[in-house]
Amino acid sequence: AERAAFIARLPKAELHLHIEGSLEPELMFGLAQRNGVAIPFASVEEVREAYAFSNLQDFLDIYYQGMRVLLTEQDFYELTAAYLARARGDNVRHVEIFFDPQGHTERGVSFSTVIAGITRALDEAREQHGLTSKLILCFLRHLSEADAEATLDAALPFVERIDGVGLDSSEVGHPPSKFERVFARARSLGLKLVAHAGEEGPPAYVEEALDLLKVDRIDHGNRSLEDPALVRRLAEAGVCLTVCPLSNLKLCVVDDMAAHPLRRMLEAGLAATVNSDDPSYFGGYVNANYQAVADALDLSRAELVALARNSFTGSFLEQNERDRHL
Ligand code: HPA
Ligand code: ZN
Repeated sequence: AERAAFIARLPKAELHLHIEGSLEPELMFGLAQRNGVAIPFASVEEVREAYAFSNLQDFLDIYYQGMRVLLTEQDFYELTAAYLARARGDNVRHVEIFFDPQGHTERGVSFSTVIAGITRALDEAREQHGLTSKLILCFLRHLSEADAEATLDAALPFVERIDGVGLDSSEVGHPPSKFERVFARARSLGLKLVAHAGEEGPPAYVEEALDLLKVDRIDHGNRSLEDPALVRRLAEAGVCLTVCPLSNLKLCVVDDMAAHPLRRMLEAGLAATVNSDDPSYFGGYVNANYQAVADALDLSRAELVALARNSFTGSFLEQNERDRHL
């Protein structure tokens, strides 16, 4: 309880959050009804029962299914506003949000609808509560690089509202090298770069993300620990890792929270952070992630403070804004 209060009071940034993964079953049901979209569940309880995954792909199948209820600008606004309210409740001061436009445009929802709804909620949270944000467009790596290029083209009219690009979805078999050209183009547009790597994929995918995509951060990065030379490199370069403890448990990236690599990451000098990934699907927002991993690993207050500091130093905030939080 004392640890819970300490975590709750810590100012934090969240750097790894898929906005579509914050769709709570209650909102899913409400939007399904409002939009006349059929969903394969009879109740909110049935939805929650379906959230038992044995790997990343199991989850992704349900995640893409769930986002089919999102059709209008208002839907994306409500989704994002609901997440931001939860983040604020956890004393999160800054958020960097991923969205998956290809999950929507392939269903006939326009890029402009998605971005208008999300940014309306982000602007409102900034104006009303001083909650700052960045927006990161993720390419779905199970689709082709040509599809990613077309998505970046569709984003061009909105590029002033987009801060970076990322890479998510099914990792194994879709290495970072597949997206080298589209990331180079995003870089030339002045966008920040991140990629999921080393969640299920091997340490070589983390190296590719650094060497070929030239990413500013690694999302997850757990399997980096299998390669001591890579660990030294990440530590020396101060590369931020956006670690997601409850996600790792729910997707069987770790067998047991007590076996989570977060303490080993900190001991190796890695700039690890704690994030919620897809909180509706994995059972908790930021504070619940700090709590679960801190309880399992018996993290000290100093370690919790270091994690929260890493979340600001690893963020894409301008130096002066970042320093306000440190
Ligand atoms: N990994 C890969 N793709 C994703 C994830 C994740 O944890 N969440 C949403 N898309
Ligand atoms: Zn993720």
